[in-house]
Amino acid sequence: DAAGRRVVELTAAPGESAFLDGPTTPTWGYGGLPFGGPTIRARRGEEVVVRVTNRLPETTTTHWHGMTLPARMDGGPHQPIAPGETWEASWRVDQPAATLWYHPHPHGATERHVHRGLAGLILVDDDVRVDLPGRYGVDDVPVVLTDRSFAPDGSFDTAHRNAVGLLGDTVLVNGTVAPYLDVRTTRVRLRVLNASPARSYRVGAGAPVTLVGTDGGLLPSPRVVPDVLLTPGERAEIVVECAPGRRTVLRSLPDELGAVNGIAIAAGGHDTLDLLELRPADRLEPSPAVPAVLSREAPLDEGAALRTRRFVLSSNRINGLAMDMGRVDEVVEAGATEIWELANRHTLPHNIHVHDARLQVLSPGERAWKDTVAVPPGRTVRLLVRVGPYADPEVPYMIHCHMLRHEDDGMMLQFLVV
Ligand code: C2O
Ligand code: CU
Ligand code: CU
Repeated sequence: DAAGRRVVELTAAPGESAFLDGPTTPTWGYGGLPFGGPTIRARRGEEVVVRVTNRLPETTTTHWHGMTLPARMDGGPHQPIAPGETWEASWRVDQPAATLWYHPHPHGATERHVHRGLAGLILVDDDVRVDLPGRYGVDDVPVVLTDRSFAPDGSFDTAHRNAVGLLGDTVLVNGTVAPYLDVRTTRVRLRVLNASPARSYRVGAGAPVTLVGTDGGLLPSPRVVPDVLLTPGERAEIVVECAPGRRTVLRSLPDELGAVNGIAIAAGGHDTLDLLELRPADRLEPSPAVPAVLSREAPLDEGAALRTRRFVLSSNRINGLAMDMGRVDEVVEAGATEIWELANRHTLPHNIHVHDARLQVLSPGERAWKDTVAVPPGRTVRLLVRVGPYADPEVPYMIHCHMLRHEDDGMMLQFLVV
């Protein structure tokens, strides 16, 4: 607008989509799309104003997952948007380039709203020049993964849920069944988001891929890995090498998720799923090599951690507590670095997402920026956490399991940043 702010209008509304041959599926989507949402792009330093209009038949919220912003703008359960209303969120983007996303967060109904189709990407850009493939839709391509099963009438099947949540037998990539990508360059950067309510994906391409970014931004330097495990809510930016005319299938491979056999199976851990076929042209434009240095951002300093907090995960509970919107569970000082220990005392795999926070897993050599981390059964994950800089003595942020059924069933606590 005239004040130099980036103004985004976003409407959440019912739609209808033809995913398969056969009856269409009633869906919800953002921005006029029947399913999913438009990619929002903003630069570090920019003032962003997002006006979300709710045309759904029920109250929703819109949360900016991974964004550092004031609690009142967070779009969690405390920022409801009633049907017919518009909620305006505004903040200054101030974090490194990263692949973030937005989705509903109404307490007790997040799984249902996301499952209907509400989810989109937010790409943060910054002024650091890194020579990675960067032409959106050409060699810098979003891969939003989610899974659904279909009932005979075409609607999404919500009847078959187990303790892990709602798993589907059909993968949708950017809302498309059995997708392919025409590739014109020797390297493509895929921004992979796991937007599934419960399913984890171990994403591989049949040959090693180069991991360049995680939830919160680019790695210090690229890492060649056989595959990348993404639990619900996590993101990875990978660079895949392509040879002229040779098709490659991005696939999700089995992973036990640290669970015993029956639970691993229930969690979809034995499934192999084709995600996306890459179809390189017979002549490819050469892409530059992945730079050896991707980010010079200083890591969090364990020595600066002021205190340690412990979160014990059990069945739908954190520290034995179920989410209560009227109770504040933790109070954290703005800008503080702390150690948070996540101990999974349950037989199910869980993961933990912290709002407004930049996280690094405390383990030798681990420098990836995260906001959502897997916590396998019986395991303890130690994190360096930095929250802030925004303080608000009244409105809390959330920490919760991002397996959405667990979140809805109470596996969420609230913390204030003061
Ligand atoms: Cu992606 Cu609290 O959520
Ligand atoms: Cu979030
Ligand atoms: Cu969980």
